Amino acid sequence: MKNLLMSSVLATISATSAMAGDAAEGEGVFNRWCLACHAEHPLAPATIYLSAKLGPDLGAIRANTDLEPDYIAYMVRNGQGSMPNFRRTEITNDELDSLLAYFQSLKEAKQ
Ligand code: HEC
Repeated sequence: MKNLLMSSVLATISATSAMAGDAAEGEGVFNRWCLACHAEHPLAPATIYLSAKLGPDLGAIRANTDLEPDYIAYMVRNGQGSMPNFRRTEITNDELDSLLAYFQSLKEAKQ
């Protein structure tokens, strides 16, 4: 009984960590799919747009640590304006989890 309980606890923990995503992989996903528009660069189109809309401090998406994971995931899957949506064949659900883990790691690094 005790072993059964233990193995179900371990299974839950490993399922949770699989869902949590891998921040290092997420940085790779960001560099591949997001950086071209969202770089910390005065000519990056999304950075220009978001700076004008939200102010210079929130123009670079990696500097805006108030963004909620659900909102980031929504934007990735649905796009908005000139931001494209990304399908599961481009960014898998696991890669999206890793991307969110990467954003979370940036938030923790800032605290
Ligand atoms: C082709 C350029 C382009 C690419 C590639 C792109 N984005 Fe965007 N993104 C934009 C633009 C433009 C906006 C502003 C949209 C608007 O508000 O109408 C935006 C907005 C966002 C927002 C909302 C920011 C806020 O402050 O409200 C999030 C989150 C976001 N992008 C995440 C991502 C992620 C994550 C990726 C990579 C998977 C990505 N974007 C790739 C152009 C891009």
